Amino acid sequence: MTGLSRRTALRLAALWLAAHQIGGVSLAAVDVRSDPFTLGVASGDPQPDGFVLWTRLIGLEAVGAAVRWEVASDERFTRIVRRGTSVASPALGHSVHVEVTGLLPDRAYFYRFRVGGAASGVGRVRTAPHPDARLASARFAVACCQQWEHGWFNAYRDLVAQDPRLVLFLGDYIYERRSGAAPFVREFGAPQPTDLASYRARHALYKSDADLQAAHAACAWAVTWDDHEVSNDYAGATPSDPESDAIFRARRAGAYQAYFEHMPIRPSALMTQGETRLYRTLGLGQLADLHVLDGRQYRDALACPGAPIRGGRALSDCAELNADRTFLGRAQENWIASAYGARAVAWDVIANPALFDPVDLALEDRPTHWSDFWDGYPVAQARMQSVFADKPDARALILTGDLHSWWAFETPPAADAPRTATEFVFGSLASRPPRASLFGDDIQRRNPHLRHMNLEGTGYGLVDLSLTDAVIQLRIMDATNPKISTAVTRTKFTVDRVTASVST
Ligand SMILES: [Fe+2]
Repeated sequence: MTGLSRRTALRLAALWLAAHQIGGVSLAAVDVRSDPFTLGVASGDPQPDGFVLWTRLIGLEAVGAAVRWEVASDERFTRIVRRGTSVASPALGHSVHVEVTGLLPDRAYFYRFRVGGAASGVGRVRTAPHPDARLASARFAVACCQQWEHGWFNAYRDLVAQDPRLVLFLGDYIYERRSGAAPFVREFGAPQPTDLASYRARHALYKSDADLQAAHAACAWAVTWDDHEVSNDYAGATPSDPESDAIFRARRAGAYQAYFEHMPIRPSALMTQGETRLYRTLGLGQLADLHVLDGRQYRDALACPGAPIRGGRALSDCAELNADRTFLGRAQENWIASAYGARAVAWDVIANPALFDPVDLALEDRPTHWSDFWDGYPVAQARMQSVFADKPDARALILTGDLHSWWAFETPPAADAPRTATEFVFGSLASRPPRASLFGDDIQRRNPHLRHMNLEGTGYGLVDLSLTDAVIQLRIMDATNPKISTAVTRTKFTVDRVTASVST
């Protein structure tokens, strides 16, 4: 171990363990014949005085390591403003989550890690503005749904070139299994994960992608998950696959821990009893509050499920839909009801993993709704609409993933109700688009609040907020030549803050 005595390292480990309560760890000198930083670096959840830094060491086996970190105000690290040491423990997959504080608001910083004689790559991150700052504008990017086998992640090259201050990731960061038919651009090379070790391996595979690593190094991310971080269409503690609830609970706990180990989220997010707390608010001065939702962990089981697969499906006749069921869980519902509109900001941005707006899929003569969306929880959906309606001075901008296609809504749907929100659904970064047959031909006529629908193309979204409007660009890749890493703005929307109306 270079530059750190064994006694000092053990003392640091004891302190760290006292704070984290995760069992024994023994530190050893790190053999750096191979690079321990091959999974890259990341930052997340910027605050006015700091952020979370992340890395995960590879190749350490059963021992821990003391990892030094540095934050500088310049890229060459001539002005180091914070430094410290953190223990990478085998109990948490040798992941490192550093909560840096004491920095200046709305400033760019650079960071890196060292262990033994090895140094990580350099990451860049910007602190959030002061809560009272009259920030005139802010750009962030929105991404979701990256099926490893379906596509390359080269859209991230275009995303980095657009210089967002933040990437908002809306879920399906990993996929647990193959879907669709060949050809695939690359392979998982492993079966569906079932426990902590195999979910760790899947996340590590993802983090080996150079474009994804570059996007993490370029700016902070704020992440939430959807279903594929664990298993397709699961709901709370209920799997959609025909496996026992007990087996699924153990599998979900492993998947949640592996997710924590690979994401730049706060150490306090890792709760006891298999919970990982993802719902939270991030501020952007007086311009916006960004509320990140978790739509999977606490929801009730899907209504009127099929058998043996209990996943999402179109429902037209299901009495269970009228029952008082929850999509967010009661605690998260109470949290968003008080967090929404709590500050006098121009926008309350909602990072929302599954479609919020009611949509009649137009598959039958009578209304049909998809059970895995908020539509499968209409009582909770109405409660959320009330949260928006009860604070008419606030303005919700709902940003949604999951659909692998591009949609825009003005909400609520009722023409005579005051408009409170707009919702934009962003297509996948790499996952294949859905079959058009999932939606009836009549869908736009049956859903007049649906302002845009495009089932083609992969890419990401760019959001430019100002105090008066929000400009949303759908950046879509050229599918005919996947080697081209430049996206084009296929559609550009402007949302008026006062009227919550969408124009192109
Ligand atoms: Fe997805």
